[in-house]
Amino acid sequence: ARGLDAIARTKGMRFGSAVSANPRTGSFTNPDYAALLRTDCGLLVAENEMKWQHVGPAPGQFDFAAFDRMLAWSEQNGMAMRGHNLLWQRRKWMPAWVEAHDFGARPATEAARILVEHIEAVTRRYETRIQSYDVVNEAVTPETGALEETALSQAMGGTEATIDLAFRTARTSAPHAELVYNDYMSWEPGNATHRAGVLRLLEGFRRRGTPVDALGIQSHLVTSGPDTHKSILAQQDDWRRFLDAVTAMGYRLLVTELDVRDNGLPVEAKARDRGVADYARAYLDVTLSYSRLRDVVAWGMTDRFSWIEGFEPRADKAPRRPCPYDARYRAKPLRDAIAAAL
Ligand code: XIL
Repeated sequence: ARGLDAIARTKGMRFGSAVSANPRTGSFTNPDYAALLRTDCGLLVAENEMKWQHVGPAPGQFDFAAFDRMLAWSEQNGMAMRGHNLLWQRRKWMPAWVEAHDFGARPATEAARILVEHIEAVTRRYETRIQSYDVVNEAVTPETGALEETALSQAMGGTEATIDLAFRTARTSAPHAELVYNDYMSWEPGNATHRAGVLRLLEGFRRRGTPVDALGIQSHLVTSGPDTHKSILAQQDDWRRFLDAVTAMGYRLLVTELDVRDNGLPVEAKARDRGVADYARAYLDVTLSYSRLRDVVAWGMTDRFSWIEGFEPRADKAPRRPCPYDARYRAKPLRDAIAAAL
């Protein structure tokens, strides 16, 4: 069978996956995993290795070793890498030292210095080897649509100013790169407030001239039963209205972290995989109908290493099946669904 990226390229698109440098969480150093990446992917993203906590473990200290290894491997194998992410606007995901930092007598100046130092360090190191960055990740609180705060953004005097500075810095130090705002607002019921908050943020970027090129749609999908794909298609208008509004403002779109949390599906693998594939197919058919969407990235290729297992185990404790390949590296219906939707 043809690889997913090869199929995507015939439509002017690309397909790829998150990957880790840690063999325990799904690494390119694992030959079985590497074979899947070579078969299907033209684009990779580091599952964790570029995050601020990882590359900036202490004040003024940088550690790019793990990401460097991944980038070298991807280049040797003819794959591009996306940058994920420069600022994850959640307290929990900021480096602990930044959250605990004493910002001193001029907190806004000190906060800006720290943020700019970080973004410049990453973008200047990789120059044109990275052509697309998730500059800001998850700045909107899903329940309220308001913006998240961190010690850094409070020191800066506001989240908007912090995010704007992140994008402006990235534009200046990586003028070649596509700059993405990435979040997990979805088409699922209960997401209207999150979507509205993201729209407000994107409108604000345009009003203030903040340099943002695209919206990254994480796409951590969640089923609720075997027929969710039918019920949700009946509600696709809200999702289309959201994507219409985003693209009308001139933003491109990316699917950045596709996987499926197989809730409410029978434990039996065949039926479960069918439900996952049907749901993803419905979602991709609607979402990929937007020609401004160019890249589709899965958050891991095999069930063996999916983060979903640790993040939210199934109620019945049966191993999760969120990815295109199963735990023994065999293609699942989800892979066919993606191939058909591309
Ligand atoms: C996750 C990784 O998969 C985990 O290994 C890590 O412990 C936490 O982060 N949204 C994102 C990703 O933007 O960076 C997250 O990745 C998944 C949710």
